[in-house]
Amino acid sequence: MRIVVTAGPTREPIDPVRFISNRSSGKMGYAIAEAALERGDVVTLISGPVAITPPKEAALVQITTSDELYAAVHQHVRDADVLVMCAAVSDYKPTQAATRKLEKQTRDFSLPLTPTRDILASLAREDRSCLVVGFAAETHDLETRARTKLARKNCDMIVANDVSGTDLGMESDYNAVTVFFANGDRKQITRAKKRIVARELMKIISEMIEKRLTKKT
Ligand code: CTP
Repeated sequence: MRIVVTAGPTREPIDPVRFISNRSSGKMGYAIAEAALERGDVVTLISGPVAITPPKEAALVQITTSDELYAAVHQHVRDADVLVMCAAVSDYKPTQAATRKLEKQTRDFSLPLTPTRDILASLAREDRSCLVVGFAAETHDLETRARTKLARKNCDMIVANDVSGTDLGMESDYNAVTVFFANGDRKQITRAKKRIVARELMKIISEMIEKRLTKKT
């Protein structure tokens, strides 16, 4: 199986020394890449700036901004069986990045922001052959919000995690997730090290790929 995994945050430049980003550590995405390699899959890891050493066996594509991530996903998804969109993409970018360092203001200061492109939503179901797995990081109304994203972003399944605490999800070594499927099904993976959650997710993904193949033949 050929799998593309995106991981980590994006950085949207404000000026040469500042950026907008988020708390994503990349741990979940990297764990998924490792779990896929353990199974013998061919892995392309598209990664934002993180402090983890990438697995040697993965083809690493480094990105910084959401626009670079958008281009890398569209390029690599063409040859993939699965896309796992674990990256925490910034929803906004400064409308114009300053070429010189902005000077400190003594008054309130506002920065015009422009929405970034939604990468998952840009991958139309009819134009793609791969299975698309989204992530949903939620602090509230997990099921409703995850199911809305699953439909709006044309995903085949979405992995929802609660990021309201500090002992799970973002930056933590642990995660607990609920997977929602386009056909209405759901599966729960209880609290475990991200390495273990990643292996469970890869089992679910490979079962879905097998089902698709048997449907086709
Ligand atoms: N995502 C994406 N492109 C974006 C923003 C997010 O492809 N511009 C993907 C993420 O990689 C993830 C999924 O969409 O797989 C859900 O991301 P999330 O941040 O939970 O959702 P948002 O669309 O940003 O919605 P909100 O911030 O309102 O929760």
